[in-house]
Amino acid sequence: MAIFVHYLFIILISTVISVVSFLLHRSRRLRSLRLPPGNLGLPFIGETLQLISAYKTENPEPFIDERVKRYGSVFTTHIFGEPTVFSADPETNRFILQNEGRLFESSYPGSISNLLGKHSLLLMKGNLHKRMHSLTMSSVSYSIIKDQLLVDIDRLIRINLDSWTDRVLLMEEAKKITFELTIKQLMGIDPGEWSESLRKQYVLVIEGFFTIPLPLISITYRRAIKARRKVAEELGKIVRERREGYERGERKSDMLGGLLGHEGISNEEIVDFMVALLVAGYETTSTIMTLAVKFLTQTPLSLAQLKEEYEEIREKKSEWEALEWRDYKSMSFTHCVINETLRVANIISGVFRRTITDVNIKGYTIPKDWKVFASFRAVHLDHDHFEDARTFNPWRWQNVQGTSCSGNFYTPFGGGPRLCPGYELARVEISVFLHHLVTQFSWVPAEEDKLVFFPTTRTQKRYPINLQRRC
Ligand code: HEM
Ligand SMILES: *[C@@H]1O[C@H](CO)[C@@H](O)[C@H](O)[C@H]1NC(C)=O
Repeated sequence: MAIFVHYLFIILISTVISVVSFLLHRSRRLRSLRLPPGNLGLPFIGETLQLISAYKTENPEPFIDERVKRYGSVFTTHIFGEPTVFSADPETNRFILQNEGRLFESSYPGSISNLLGKHSLLLMKGNLHKRMHSLTMSSVSYSIIKDQLLVDIDRLIRINLDSWTDRVLLMEEAKKITFELTIKQLMGIDPGEWSESLRKQYVLVIEGFFTIPLPLISITYRRAIKARRKVAEELGKIVRERREGYERGERKSDMLGGLLGHEGISNEEIVDFMVALLVAGYETTSTIMTLAVKFLTQTPLSLAQLKEEYEEIREKKSEWEALEWRDYKSMSFTHCVINETLRVANIISGVFRRTITDVNIKGYTIPKDWKVFASFRAVHLDHDHFEDARTFNPWRWQNVQGTSCSGNFYTPFGGGPRLCPGYELARVEISVFLHHLVTQFSWVPAEEDKLVFFPTTRTQKRYPINLQRRC
């Protein structure tokens, strides 16, 4: 017995010694590495408060601007409890995106990953991610949008606009539209009471994303967890019914139909997958719809040009004829407007990653397990890459092919293995929305409404507008 205690004691001591020497070694190692320049701020909270207060202003990039000026386009800071390297450099951003899975992996705050569900595409890694990413890509490819989704996008957007009164909160309407479209695309269900009540729950889940993930502290988070469970139950019911149908030989061509056709994907995995798509397409697409309208309203020349583009299309069609793929392709100025809206009002301002190993970049070393933030917005708003970068100017995208505007500098949909699978779908939805809005209505903002940039880009009052139907 005594020997045993003695033995335990030795183990304990040697563990303590190795932990201490590991820590010493680590801090010495950190000092010997050449980190990107910067300031780690106060212990633990670092520069988090500066970050949050910076984004309460109307300036889109105050936090990054100030530090880029002082330290250069790659710098170190300390936010949300961790040291983090920020990049406002297009080359570094590209390097980060392309080396996903090799040197970096995506990293979400605990609140978001808990609410997404563990089988979410956003959280998957390695080969499983590769497989599910390409499955998602193919389920919203050009040809699927063209042959299957476009008809419903046109129809559901018209039905929504038909129900509008003389005043709407544009952001709310746009969210309702994108939610209904995603539900239709995922499982072929037309909007109605079921989808509206699902959306109410879903909104509570999203609200939980930006809270502290501790149920005891945050009511919003507790409510979000509960809502997540309800959403999963509702979707789970549909998936079970559809799987029974599938086993009886029923085939449907929506995304759920495609997933059921794949061996070895469980119902729970399908539900998480669907929640991820709902999350990824909802705020993003609807915010761009709303902000495009806001920028167009503030730039009457661009709105007039858009109207002309749409009248040309309508002239060749009867009043109720749906938009076709070639109409979408012919909307060249619309594409400029969408690109420019995505540039000046990046909703996904950048992406967080974690280093899997020590990474050498631009003569610096980022230690293993550190957070990295590749800021797309900082590049998109940099005067070195875009002339008069902070002004909405859709004409800059005309004759843009081959200029410095595209390629590395412009990444609203990310890149590399995690490139947004919905990039074409989002463009189509926004184009069809703008087309019907502009041809059917004229409008004026009902109130002053400001852009805010934190924690997400949006307008303060959800953009209320007064509408008049064109005859
Ligand atoms: C204007 C609208 C949109 C923007 C700006 C946008 C932007 C992005 C960005 C930047 C990423 C990369 C995230 C990262 O690298 O960590 C991403 C990923 C993703 N997006 Fe989108 N997105 C939009 C619409 C959509 C839509 C409509 C869908 C629905 C199909 C969608 C589905 C996804 C999914 C599933 C991912 C995760 C991909 C992965 O991690 O492999 N997005 N999106
Ligand atoms: C819009 O941006 C994309 C890159 O995301 C580019 O491929 C496309 O050519 C741009 N469209 C226009 C009209 O400039």
